[in-house]
Amino acid sequence: MRKKIAAGNWKMNTDPNFGENFIKNLENRPFPDDVLVILGVPYVSLLSMSNTAKKVAIAGQNCHQEDKGAYTGEISASMLSSVGCGYVILGHSERRQYFNETDDLILSKIHKAFENNLEVIYCCGEPLEVREEGSHEAYVGKQLEDSICKLDKDQLSKVVIAYEPIWAIGTGKTASPEQAQSMHANIRKVIENNFDRECAEAISILYGGSVKPANAKEIFSQPDVDGGLVGGASLKEDSFYDIIQSF
Ligand code: 13P
Repeated sequence: MRKKIAAGNWKMNTDPNFGENFIKNLENRPFPDDVLVILGVPYVSLLSMSNTAKKVAIAGQNCHQEDKGAYTGEISASMLSSVGCGYVILGHSERRQYFNETDDLILSKIHKAFENNLEVIYCCGEPLEVREEGSHEAYVGKQLEDSICKLDKDQLSKVVIAYEPIWAIGTGKTASPEQAQSMHANIRKVIENNFDRECAEAISILYGGSVKPANAKEIFSQPDVDGGLVGGASLKEDSFYDIIQSF
């Protein structure tokens, strides 16, 4: 049985005060036992939120590929671990686009995350022009083959995949449940081809891109969709809570 996951990605929004209150209020509500809830939050909020959280797991949104050193403004995987993170989001399309992250670099960050006991939410997804020309499956397949397919099986078991079509991020334009299902099935096939069927069946694959309470249930009900990575709608406690309950 695969893990069901509702993950939020706050990106560069909110402050520690907001984060602490959010966790307190959210955890005061009845939580489904079988859903793993993860919040990827700004660095300045990691410590207080992980100290406050009893059920929600806390994630960093990036880490550097080196252990330490003269990298002004960067954060290491060990720093994330030291403030209570259990996860790190890597390969987000915004990091790929604005910080020129390649799958080679992302792979080295993934290794560093594992060395520091972090599990990884690995993001992949195609831009609009690739979707329009119909080569989205090959595009995402290559992202996977250049990164997580180079791990061993044990390492892969510490990865959650998030499929986030770039054209659906922050645009209000969601992939249809059929489009999400078809890409998730393709991703599972790539994992099966590079590892085996057991690994493919075990890995959780989240959908991300304009997930909200109004569409979460239908998307999450697809057989190969195991949850969501939610941006905007994870910033409001009510809407994120509705999404947690959408399985
Ligand atoms: P939105 O839910 O705001 O579209 O963002 C998705 C995302 O990028 C999550 O990582």
